[in-house]
Amino acid sequence: MKRLLSLTTFLLLTIFASAQRASYDIIPMPKEVKVDTTQLFTLTSSMGIAFDQNNAECTRIAQFLKEWVKEATGIELQQTPANAKSPIRFSLIAPAKKSKRDKKPVALTEQQEESYTLKVDKDGILVTAYKPVGLFRAAQTLRKSLPVTKDAKKIEFPAVTITDQPRFVYRGVMLDCARHFFSVDFVKQYIDVMALHGCNQFHWHLTEDQGWRFEVKALPDLAVKGSVREKTVIGPSRMRIYDNIPYGGYYTQEECRDVVKYAAERYVNIVPEIDMPGHMQSALHVFPNLGCTGGPYPVAPYWGVMRDVLCGGNPETLTFLKTVFGELCDVFPSPYIHIGGDECPKERWQKCPKCQAKIKELGLTTETVKVEGGDDRGSQDGRSAENKLQSYINHEIEQFLASRGRSLIGWDEILAGGLSEGAIVMSWRGTKGGVAAAKQKHRVIMSPNVFAYLDHPQLKDYGKQPRTTDSYIVSCSKIYSFEPLVPEELSDEEDDYILGYQGNLWTEQVAYPEHALYQLLPRLASMCEVQWCKPEQKDFEGWKRRLPQLKKLYDKMGLVYCNEVE
Ligand code: ACM
Ligand code: ZN
Repeated sequence: MKRLLSLTTFLLLTIFASAQRASYDIIPMPKEVKVDTTQLFTLTSSMGIAFDQNNAECTRIAQFLKEWVKEATGIELQQTPANAKSPIRFSLIAPAKKSKRDKKPVALTEQQEESYTLKVDKDGILVTAYKPVGLFRAAQTLRKSLPVTKDAKKIEFPAVTITDQPRFVYRGVMLDCARHFFSVDFVKQYIDVMALHGCNQFHWHLTEDQGWRFEVKALPDLAVKGSVREKTVIGPSRMRIYDNIPYGGYYTQEECRDVVKYAAERYVNIVPEIDMPGHMQSALHVFPNLGCTGGPYPVAPYWGVMRDVLCGGNPETLTFLKTVFGELCDVFPSPYIHIGGDECPKERWQKCPKCQAKIKELGLTTETVKVEGGDDRGSQDGRSAENKLQSYINHEIEQFLASRGRSLIGWDEILAGGLSEGAIVMSWRGTKGGVAAAKQKHRVIMSPNVFAYLDHPQLKDYGKQPRTTDSYIVSCSKIYSFEPLVPEELSDEEDDYILGYQGNLWTEQVAYPEHALYQLLPRLASMCEVQWCKPEQKDFEGWKRRLPQLKKLYDKMGLVYCNEVE
């Protein structure tokens, strides 16, 4: 009996002890994890995190780690100077030189800038990286390795050497804050969730037919009046049944700057999007003279692709756009600025005297060649004179952005009338646009709808999830199965033009933060592994086994997520 009791006690202690142990089975999976099971490091309260206190970024990262350890385990660490004999040390190291004679170290690739090494032995944890961003990634790895417990006294870390570096430089997620408006607090939470998953580009969709959300100081009515629709369609757009409740909201420039700073502290860049020349009905509401017909135009109360777009022939259109993009550049330091460019029907332009006069003045003609990225509204002929007029506008804006040191991103429709020089293509209607752009030596972000549209359901059974965009399922396994380099189409050289993979959360059907999080999670956990890992490392069954540990952290962080995976 006594032996049985002591065996039970032993088993209980073992279970208890293992529940307090860190596990490196995290998402996204690091590039290399070498565990040495013969040694353990035991983390306890009041231990120090040593870092360079003269470096503001290192100081902030140590503070984050302290908060994350407390959040997951209750253990409180101390921050100590770099030279202190603390068991947890975060150090910046200089990149190697090619030879002893070289004065300068070799230039780092963007991926190497984010790389880090994390070593655990019985004496402690040592993190090294070339840049603070690498230390931040390592701190997130430690955070995700922690057991989520309450009031732990100690955490045991198996000895390990982790080396990690992302596969792609651009690891994006978009949030449509125009169909529905999301508060600054929620946007910050979204950025936190992105950072947890190692994403680094927040694509902020700020304008739509249904609402203008970015304050432009030179045009105050744009946000004040353009942000408010009188009512919103309930259910399917074609039914035109409305709630008759005014709906609005916009971000002041001060709020945007605050979000930019918040994101930068978490190594997330914000790519702002002003979608033009289509999806502009909220701006036309305020400035009807910018439309081909002169209006009036309501801020759109239903979803879909609107016929009314900015007039391509009115010189005031370019003046308007340069004012808007000028202020956007003042607020957002991003190297990339998104100009939209999608779903711009040309029927108004075909009939508009101003548009046709501009086409004549520019000598634009319709060519009967079929090109990838042909007009989305039926025309297979990408090289219509009207599409070329859109390219002319894109080109003008590209030059304007270049004068501010920025690169233009556009949805793949920008291929239709010919790409301007440095344009980056965001391929959403499958991968064809991205492949065509890479072959033309343009940079590409892959975001093909059937793999990356997070507004679509994630489970086959519609009844199990909130109502959202239907027609195809974007499950975790589907997202995971995507290979951004499209090996059957692109050569090794062309691969270099693929910057990365992005998920898009459109919000026609998503009005609340909880629903947005449900759409995002755990699908972002699936996507981030494609963004970080080489194809040979990918393993969906393994990913599924690693997910419960991450979900415990979601619970701790109070995040809503879909609890099933397909
Ligand atoms: C898009 O989904 N219209 C880019
Ligand atoms: Zn016109």
